[in-house]
Amino acid sequence: MELSQLLIEKKDGIALLTINSPKTLNALNSKMLGELECALYELELDAEVKVVILTGAGKAFVAGADIKEMAQMSAMEGQQFSRKGQRLMLFIDQMTKPVIAAVNGYALGGGLELALACDFIYACVESKFGFPEVTLGVMPGFGGTQNLARRIGAAKANELIFTGKMIDAAKAEGWGIVNELFAAEELMDKAFKTAMQIASVASLAIGYAKDAIVHGLDMTREDGFRYEAALFGVLFASEDQKEGMGAFVEKRKAVFKGE
Ligand code: CAA
Repeated sequence: MELSQLLIEKKDGIALLTINSPKTLNALNSKMLGELECALYELELDAEVKVVILTGAGKAFVAGADIKEMAQMSAMEGQQFSRKGQRLMLFIDQMTKPVIAAVNGYALGGGLELALACDFIYACVESKFGFPEVTLGVMPGFGGTQNLARRIGAAKANELIFTGKMIDAAKAEGWGIVNELFAAEELMDKAFKTAMQIASVASLAIGYAKDAIVHGLDMTREDGFRYEAALFGVLFASEDQKEGMGAFVEKRKAVFKGE
């Protein structure tokens, strides 16, 4: 598939995936959803890539799903569009590689849903967050009702979704949507620095930890503990476990292979 609305740059085990449709504030149309799914699938299979950073070109991360495309949809098309967006969000959960959202501006509607689907969010201080769907006669449809409530609790999710208001970056950080805020000119450097740190340790272990966290959230605590123990045990069959613990004992720096 030709990726006409995305840019991909790879360096030192990090893939920077930029949504590149700044004229429409990177609004997510059906084609873009397909491109994102395709690009992330390829990055998941790319052995050179350890971490993905997702950002937007221009003044927005993503200003939502494409309202002009949605305005013409029938009920069935609306449902299919929602399922397509949700499939992308769920694919990010299934990826073994961490995906960091670097929010560089507006993250609204489907854009906030995309950021919430990532493993964590860094943002610049000027960014704005919200779910304006109710002002358009609809509701969040790319997993936002589920992911926001799980991230920040139902009460704050209710306030954001029911009012359709925008909140600033400081409030989004205070509410626990964003991990950390940076000046606009520092955002990508900081995201890369964290990505480098993640890329330097055992990628297999990170993939398993992500699996335990993502799936454990939908389990009882006891089942989550059991799942964690099972994955923990499997890691003892890896070369990385032998290398990591061996290097500690031998007082040298570990060199991980992701095997
Ligand atoms: N869909 C389609 N086009 C969009 C868009 C969107 N979500 N957001 C912005 N654009 C387009 C605008 O139509 C405009 O295009 P034209 O120049 O051709 O008119 C261009 O991007 C620039 O936008 P503005 O001129 O509006 O820029 P601004 O700086 O004045 O305002 C903004 C910025 C406040 C983000 C405003 O663009 C806006 O309110 N956008 C819509 C936000 C929104 O409602 N998002 C939720 C969509 S619904 C959804 O996402 C459903 C879901 O959960 C699946």
